[in-house]
Amino acid sequence: MKRRDFIKTSAIGLAAPSAVFGKTKIKTNKNNPIILSTWDHGLPANEAGLISFQNGGNAMDAAEAGARIPEADITITTVGFGGLPDKQGNVTLDACVMDSTGNAGSVAFLQNIKHPVSVARKVMEETKHVMLVGEGARQFALSQGFEEMDLLTDESKAAWEKWKKKQREMTPHETHDTISVLAQDKNGDLAGACTTSGWAYKMHGRVGDCPIIGAGLFVDNEIGCAAATGLGEEVIKTTGSFLVVELMRQGYDPTAACEEALNRVIKRHNGNPDFQIAYIAIRKDGKIGSACIKWSFEYALARGGVNKLYKIKGLL
Ligand code: GLY
Repeated sequence: MKRRDFIKTSAIGLAAPSAVFGKTKIKTNKNNPIILSTWDHGLPANEAGLISFQNGGNAMDAAEAGARIPEADITITTVGFGGLPDKQGNVTLDACVMDSTGNAGSVAFLQNIKHPVSVARKVMEETKHVMLVGEGARQFALSQGFEEMDLLTDESKAAWEKWKKKQREMTPHETHDTISVLAQDKNGDLAGACTTSGWAYKMHGRVGDCPIIGAGLFVDNEIGCAAATGLGEEVIKTTGSFLVVELMRQGYDPTAACEEALNRVIKRHNGNPDFQIAYIAIRKDGKIGSACIKWSFEYALARGGVNKLYKIKGLL
């Protein structure tokens, strides 16, 4: 976006009555729960989050319930069970959660456990740590009662075997459909979850942005929350989700905050990145925002009894 356009967008944000900046607190959206998720698999994720709300769940419960849906869906090849493996045929999973108190839990390079998002929540709630990786994360999951299973399906194995013949480097936008779920409950509290099998046919040991607090996900219950999907390496280098929340703190409208965070990535790539990143954000007053670098991006928004998919165009 050109600087002039950005200033225009910001000015609209500044004019909104609920968007109060500086030392004044942003008004809290209450009794109007929201669930905002990435991509079209966000729709069933949102449904699960809404059921969690109906059963008395808070924002963290809803975000986790939502993220578990694509994790278990073998037709989604970028998350959990059925996710495409690394170069060597291992499905390695990354996930994190962050709640309204600023607590966070995360797992990276986790293998053979179907619901990394729930393991991440256990890390947050049952340990003194934020992040467990690899074999340690797997052992911790088993100690918490998670079952071990082979996450490579017949379909993902066949896709990997086909890929192995030519070993074509996958372009990042072909393979990154992380599910990120942001939720605001009836009390106005915010939480989020993020889970992925990462870059298809990646190097063994590669970890993306998803389990890195501040990169794939960030929640600040006073201001808002944000989450990412797309090329994790570039999200990490710009601490993307933290940046979106900090920009909202500075007074940026949620969409303008997502755009400005992406503009920094675009600038780093001389105005012409060949990959996709998208952000979603919820501000404390219930205003949502989203932006993506190029092509298009879809997010699912559940609010006021409607769960709907929205398509946006890239900044470039
Ligand atoms: N955004 C997911 C990843 O890069 O692994």
